[in-house]
Amino acid sequence: MAIAMRNTRKHSGIVFVSLILAAILIITSAGCGSGSGSGGTPEGGTAAPVSTDAEQPGTDGPEAPAEEGFTAEQLAAAHEQALANAKMDAQPAMGQAEVAPQGLLLLVNKQHPLQSDYVPAELKDIKYYASDRSASTRYMVPAAADAFHALCEAAKEEAGYTIVMTTAYRSYGFQQILWNNYVNKDGEAAASRYSARPGTSEHQTGLATDISAPSVNYRLTNEFGGTPEGQWVAENAHRFGFILRFTKDGEPITGYIYEPWHIRYVGPETAAEIHALGITLEEYLILLGR
Ligand code: DAL
Ligand code: ZN
Repeated sequence: MAIAMRNTRKHSGIVFVSLILAAILIITSAGCGSGSGSGGTPEGGTAAPVSTDAEQPGTDGPEAPAEEGFTAEQLAAAHEQALANAKMDAQPAMGQAEVAPQGLLLLVNKQHPLQSDYVPAELKDIKYYASDRSASTRYMVPAAADAFHALCEAAKEEAGYTIVMTTAYRSYGFQQILWNNYVNKDGEAAASRYSARPGTSEHQTGLATDISAPSVNYRLTNEFGGTPEGQWVAENAHRFGFILRFTKDGEPITGYIYEPWHIRYVGPETAAEIHALGITLEEYLILLGR
């Protein structure tokens, strides 16, 4: 799956080290194998994270992979590049033509906005939601909706936890209303640390959802991250193809403060890698040379 290069990301050849054969595969433009995800509701434990070098003999030395097949140097360079990218001007807003080739690795952030009329090609109803929120947001793209349902059902079956969505798909217009409200309440500078300007929200992609639980009265609060439900999500969301998009220390890269409630569908293989590496989506894409 080819993807258009962005000029905000340096294209460095990415070396994946096979942990079994010690063969080195140079990948310059190929997809990472997350696939379309269509119809692919992940079944728990199907993701195949790569082992760490701790389990791999004979890989000491400067070229040894630090984690997940990437060297410490590659990880540090990706981090620096992501920090630099976060300071760059926004690129032209994307429509279907720019979005479609990116597949599940679609990057929408402050530097990579969507056009105001962008709507996902297909949206599917979400079954598990907080009933006091807008019904207009109870949708995700089909693969993400299926995966979210699987996550909710596993949380219930494995741990007895109730997880629901609060808002998932948000149109440009809906995000505009939210943004205006937050700016009026807290001012633009403060609002921009926790709310996306219209066009820059992942919610417009249909790949993200906010979640909560009865233990925090279905609120979006940092407390959710400390609840058993929030911890279960942090530890297990990747099995279903989701990442926690706005991590505790990710603000210099993502532009947003910690949001333990915002999960983003990227597909189970990608989610497992990002989870294991403990990095942001921005850094991961740089590691892939995108
Ligand atoms: N709260 C996230 C950043 C959004 O508004 O999309
Ligand atoms: Zn969100």
